[in-house]
Amino acid sequence: MKSKNKIEQEFLKKIKNLKKHNKLYYTDDSPKISDYKYDSLKKEIKELEIKHPFLKKISSIDNIIGAKPSSKFEKIEHLTPMLSLSNSFDINDINDFHKKIKNFLNLKNEKIELFCEPKIDGISATLIYENGNLIKGLSRGDGFTGENILENLKTITSIPKKIDTKNLPELLEIRCEIFIGKNDFNNLKDKFANPRNAAGGSLRQKNSEETAKIPLKYFAYGFGIIRPMEFSKQSEFLKKISELGFITNPLSEKITGIDSIEKYHKKIDNMRSSLEYDIDGIVLKINDLNLQKRLGSTSNSPRWATAYKFSAEKATTRIKTISIQVGRTGAITPVAKVDPVTVGGVVVSNATLHNEDEIKRKDIRIGDTIQIQRAGDVIPQVVSVDIKKRDAESKKFIFPTKCLCGGLTIKEKNKITKKEDAVRRCVKGYACEFIAKEKLKHIVSKDAFNIDGLGKKVIDQFWDLSLIKEPSDIFELNFSKIKNLEGWGEVSIDNLKKAISNSKIIKLDKFIFSIGIRHIGQENAKILAGFFGSIKEFSKLFDLKTREKLLSSLVDLDGIGGTQIDSINNFFSNTTNIRITKKLIEKLEINNFAIRNTSGKFSNKKMMFTGGFQNMSRSEAKTIVENNGGKVLGTISKKLDFLVVGDSKPTKKKIDQAKELNIKIILEKEWKKILNS
Ligand code: IVH
Repeated sequence: MKSKNKIEQEFLKKIKNLKKHNKLYYTDDSPKISDYKYDSLKKEIKELEIKHPFLKKISSIDNIIGAKPSSKFEKIEHLTPMLSLSNSFDINDINDFHKKIKNFLNLKNEKIELFCEPKIDGISATLIYENGNLIKGLSRGDGFTGENILENLKTITSIPKKIDTKNLPELLEIRCEIFIGKNDFNNLKDKFANPRNAAGGSLRQKNSEETAKIPLKYFAYGFGIIRPMEFSKQSEFLKKISELGFITNPLSEKITGIDSIEKYHKKIDNMRSSLEYDIDGIVLKINDLNLQKRLGSTSNSPRWATAYKFSAEKATTRIKTISIQVGRTGAITPVAKVDPVTVGGVVVSNATLHNEDEIKRKDIRIGDTIQIQRAGDVIPQVVSVDIKKRDAESKKFIFPTKCLCGGLTIKEKNKITKKEDAVRRCVKGYACEFIAKEKLKHIVSKDAFNIDGLGKKVIDQFWDLSLIKEPSDIFELNFSKIKNLEGWGEVSIDNLKKAISNSKIIKLDKFIFSIGIRHIGQENAKILAGFFGSIKEFSKLFDLKTREKLLSSLVDLDGIGGTQIDSINNFFSNTTNIRITKKLIEKLEINNFAIRNTSGKFSNKKMMFTGGFQNMSRSEAKTIVENNGGKVLGTISKKLDFLVVGDSKPTKKKIDQAKELNIKIILEKEWKKILNS
């Protein structure tokens, strides 16, 4: 029989181990053991506790918060996407935000009413009520699909579970930010790096009893779908839901004018440290919901709101060395390795130096004392160098002209301005292993194939083991080899298999974005997907003859310019890119791009605009056409169905060309009639 002492030692060792893995999972976000091994460890502790009740007095698994979920949550598609916010950092950004809105809505001197709220630094969630009953609660996920965390959200006592009010919308979706108060976080300090991590960790508990142990709070700030819609202002919406029992932020305010924005920003910044919750800026929203609807959103964020961040936190440190990193487009970014320093609660040991020109301009050298700043989740930047503290022996930094792969780098020249690019690039594409790895990381990322479990570190590991060298390898993984690797168990392998298999069905626009053509971001990928429609058509880019013809038609597309066309041509002029893309296509089921609304007023019509309208900007007109099934072209050709001519300064040449080609011309008066019909 084991002595009491031995049992206690064995027990404490296991508890220590469990705490270590909790920290690796939650705080460091880098689990080192498989889900299976983790669950076994928990089970062993539990069994010891049952067998030897005296252990409970020493420590108990029930008191360890932050236990890792044993399996994944059900994924559910959002009724309407949960987007992010564009960021503004100073008054210039705010002026731009304001100007863009005025231009889009074609407003002149009218003042726009804004609604300002503190930006809570927590975890977003959405609550769905049907006839007053809370029926679903989802995490944000990738913005389009969230995880069902209803049971965990229900543990937050201040979230209404049932609303008993007459005349409530049949469907009411409330968006909110979940957080942990600063005081409550003090008791959890050892387990999580910051309150945000603690809130996230708690919400990801598989066992809602674990969540209930952590005092989560929330502020409701917006809505998803409301049916029937009965609000016309953000302020009115928040007032109503506060009456219904939701917690809304008392510091929110209605304001007009840029000066008031600055005042509000300052006021909240001054209150920041005394608030009981973390905030990282303010959110500005257009108060009128009708204007919000007109403004709509880009693929990532609404045009009617922006996050005006508080100024970045700064710290002083010293550059130990300067190394270079290679991005997926071959861009060489210099990075300063610095003496570790805490900036805004996070230990920083790297800071970006952007590019060669930036180093020259600021004359940054190894050994320099520098000031760095960190804003949000982005990599910290070097703000300034303290030249007085520089060593007399210090030498100018000589920027390497070779890539990490040994290949030569170049600085491209802009075709139009003839100016040399500030960024140096390796041009070997997939032939450079550093670029290849970054391309793979892009392919598996959230906005591309979105493969959970294939993070950056895993890609590096699988690359070193030659498990993945190019995208198609992801779909032919040797799982029996992976099974023997440290940190991989049955559950995590199963999850990875599922995630990979789910990612095989992909929409054309996501596919185009994923293959990583330079200058083709999410928005452009959508425009291209709309043009090609199917992977069969897109694949015609592989062949030189058909490519030339297709590229010349791309000129017509509004939003695609010479830079994009050159870049597509470059990408497909490279035989390795073609081989890799073809091999990838074979593994996938790529869905045709469905034009969002083919049955609208402008169904399948190709339109073009010239001149300005009285009450509507060109961007809004374009959005309306696209939302109603039509396409907007950038040049006049026979393909065009209508040329819409605004009263303000239309181009005579375009009207003449349209007449010559027998294209129907719509004047502003008529255009308005069509829109109102
Ligand atoms: S409005 C389209 N209001 O910030 C998104 N968001 O970066 C509209 N957040 O995911 C969001 N406080 O989780 C809004 N008062 C506030 C907010 C807020 C925090 C979070 C939210 C969102 C993220 C966007």
